[in-house]
Amino acid sequence: MTKTILLTGGAGYIGSHTYVALVEAGYDVVILDDFSNAREDVPERLEMITGKPVACHRGDLLDPAVLDTVFNSHKIDAVVHFAAKKAVGESTRMPLEYIEVNCTGLVALLKRMREAGCFRLVFSSSATVYGEPKVVPIPEDAERFHTSPYAYTKLMGEQILEQLGASDDRWAFGVLRYFNPVGAHTSGQIGEDPNGIPNNLMPYIAKVAVGELPALNVFGDDYDTPDGTGLRDYIHVEDLARAHVLSLDALLERDEGHVLNIGTGQAYSVLEMLRAYERACGKPLPYVIAPRRSGDVPVLLARVDRAAEVIGFRAEYGLETMCASSWAWISRLRNSVPA
Ligand code: UD1
Repeated sequence: MTKTILLTGGAGYIGSHTYVALVEAGYDVVILDDFSNAREDVPERLEMITGKPVACHRGDLLDPAVLDTVFNSHKIDAVVHFAAKKAVGESTRMPLEYIEVNCTGLVALLKRMREAGCFRLVFSSSATVYGEPKVVPIPEDAERFHTSPYAYTKLMGEQILEQLGASDDRWAFGVLRYFNPVGAHTSGQIGEDPNGIPNNLMPYIAKVAVGELPALNVFGDDYDTPDGTGLRDYIHVEDLARAHVLSLDALLERDEGHVLNIGTGQAYSVLEMLRAYERACGKPLPYVIAPRRSGDVPVLLARVDRAAEVIGFRAEYGLETMCASSWAWISRLRNSVPA
């Protein structure tokens, strides 16, 4: 029988790509999103890509009436929980709001799932739970450490699941620690489009490429790395979406959960990313060297063998496709013709 999956935050960047991957894998999918960080037209765009009507509930996870509506309208077999706040800088200014949405929201969801007899959840964690890693590539059993309220909420989310799993063996969780998701869907219909000035590297470069920002600020060129700029494990968002499908397949087949890094195992520097984006958009992109950003670490790189062993996940897309798909999405969205 077809299984029904609830995606909280399913209209957001990673959620929307995962929606498409799940529908293509044969799941029925229901979205719950408050659209606080999603484009209003995402459900329409998802309909265009999949050719199927989208079941989308608009509302706040912290409102019990909203969760009741969702769980009373569908028989949910498993949940992928994306809905969360994710800006590190903002979290340092409003820790309570981050704890409320990211931790209280998770608890409210888990309680409602238990009431509905649904005990399978994939949790959006982050490489941020490793703080400044001592071993690179980072194994999943590395020490966890938080360097911001945002990181604290992701670490606490993992710990909430550990406590719950230990108390009741009906539960099984897929904890996915994302490295740096980038790129956009092959269809050119969905992607990342943050309002204002982006915090993350690729959306910033994209805004420079479409002429909305004058130049990239490269945060530090004096790190102990080959070109002095930060190294990250960038992963194409469609690969990341597929990791969720594999994680869910495993959770629905087996009784045990998993904690997995989701990356490519390959690191690129800020300048390598910029050069690759220049090749994708076919023009030089201005940059300036700026001071280091507080809280940044020199290298974040995943050990990826556990994800391959446990759920059979291996990233397929390389850097060129990451940049080309981002450019195809943003240039089409802005209606500018690629150079
Ligand atoms: C950031 C968050 C991390 C979060 C992840 C996903 C911080 C310190 N960390 O990761 O907790 O899980 O996003 O949302 O914010 N860079 C520039 N110029 C820019 C932007 C970035 O040089 O305008 C550099 C950074 O210094 C870094 C690399 O690009 O070396 C990647 O940065 P970013 O995309 O923000 O990701 P992370 O910092 O790895």
